[in-house]
Amino acid sequence: MFKRFNKQDSSNGAPAAAPSLVSSSKSAPAANPAPTSAAPAPAPAPEKKSKSKKTKPAPPKSIEIDAKEVKRMDRLLEIRMNLHKRLLESLNLAALDKASEEDLKHEIALIAREGLRDMDIVLNTTDQKQLNIDLLDEVIGLGPIEVLLRDDTVNDILINGSQQIFVERAGILELTTVKFKDEKHLMRIIDKIVSAVGRRVDESSPYVDARLADGSRFNAMVPPCAVDGSLVSIRKFTKEKLSVDQLIKFGAFTEAMATYLQAAVATRLNIIVSGGTGSGKTTTLNALSGFIGDEERIVTIEDTAELQLQQVHIGRMESRPPNVEGNGEVSQRDLLRNALRMRPDRIIVGETRGDEVIDMLQAMNTGHDGSMTTIHANSARDAVSRLENMIAMTGVELPLIASRAQISSAVDLMVQISRLPDGSRRMVSITEITGMEGEIISMQEIFKFQRTGMDDDGKIEGKFVSGGLRSHFTERFRQWGYDLPSSIYTDANL
Ligand SMILES: Nc1ncnc2c1ncn2[C@@H]1O[C@H](COP(=O)(O)OP(=O)(O)OP(=O)(O)O)[C@@H](O)[C@H]1O
Ligand SMILES: [Mg+2]
Repeated sequence: MFKRFNKQDSSNGAPAAAPSLVSSSKSAPAANPAPTSAAPAPAPAPEKKSKSKKTKPAPPKSIEIDAKEVKRMDRLLEIRMNLHKRLLESLNLAALDKASEEDLKHEIALIAREGLRDMDIVLNTTDQKQLNIDLLDEVIGLGPIEVLLRDDTVNDILINGSQQIFVERAGILELTTVKFKDEKHLMRIIDKIVSAVGRRVDESSPYVDARLADGSRFNAMVPPCAVDGSLVSIRKFTKEKLSVDQLIKFGAFTEAMATYLQAAVATRLNIIVSGGTGSGKTTTLNALSGFIGDEERIVTIEDTAELQLQQVHIGRMESRPPNVEGNGEVSQRDLLRNALRMRPDRIIVGETRGDEVIDMLQAMNTGHDGSMTTIHANSARDAVSRLENMIAMTGVELPLIASRAQISSAVDLMVQISRLPDGSRRMVSITEITGMEGEIISMQEIFKFQRTGMDDDGKIEGKFVSGGLRSHFTERFRQWGYDLPSSIYTDANL
């Protein structure tokens, strides 16, 4: 279990939440006067040749099943669709909401038995039971994908048209044997989801974001924009978010890194978690938020509410897309501007991707230190370029150097997350922004994951190493009672 660093009484008596120390963190004397320049990061150490010749990640696995099983499932799907039609005709749909699951199961079993008799179909007990479960999923759930939604080992469900459904388990994509009958069947389920949240999706507005009843994030794109049939992506909602302890156990980062991150969060550095899609940004943000004290007021802003903070004092906000008539949109930027009037101690924006970047950086610069967000980028340097681009796209005419000055004084720490080819998710770099050198933002990498090769099973080998520098914020940490031992920056302790 990760042993949290015990905060000492700070030498100058500054309370942990004192905002006075903060806004000009960059002006604090650098504990390490030699930040690496902003030149492109040095090329990673060459990878140790793997024992086997395997260098490419394994292609997506498909569940191996025999042709007989495929035939059985296709037959069941066919019967289920026929029976579903019958069910819709026979079931009292108005009473559906009020009926208990037991009653519904009973009713469905009765209608199914009758239907099978009429169609002259005889099923064995296993198939009959399976059919009843499938029918219930069809009537009250999301049809074929209900079984994947129930499966706790599945993180993502990715549907490419009615006949191809992939899932992601432990970071690896797998093709499943689950199918929809046809595009119409898939469209019916998509409609069921989006109409439940008062949205619609059709040729004229072919894509939609929504949240499923269980909190999962849902996106669909339908034809003609989706060329070979509707495309659906679901990020399953995990009730139990991964904790710092679990992330350490999974090898995402080490205890020493966690100690550093605890100090960074507690002393209210502004942090950006960056990474590729599905790399674990939101998970990391959630885990880091665990280091925020209970006495602080936190406001979270997201497009789809995913964060599950453990603190007491939280205001959660979710943006809203325009309605069918195109009115009523509430953007993340609107929420952010409003949040500034809500006296937050910290603002957490789930993902910065548009013009809210301006307000986010301003908030970070003007008294809401300790704010955090995530962005899509492949390295700390890339993340800075993305921020610059986002600022440029807002139409605010700011010279590049001014944008950079704004970024460098707003952001203190970049935490880079990556999903490696073997499916593991790691914190591949923790980089501090130390200021400006001429026109360039200067950074120093404190920790990184160094890949050394790949073993025979395709597992990435590597270790966490220190960048060889102590934190630029060492003095700040000390003043706030986090006099971290220098041993945390030693490779042997990582
Ligand atoms: N270190 C980890 N080890 C194992 N699983 C992880 C780890 N980090 C995240 N996950 C799992 O990976 C999935 C994706 O994580 P998450 O939603 O945090 O990614 P993201 O980068 O925010 O994705 P997106 O770009 O779609 O917003 C989740 O199901 C999460 O539980
Ligand atoms: Mg996310």
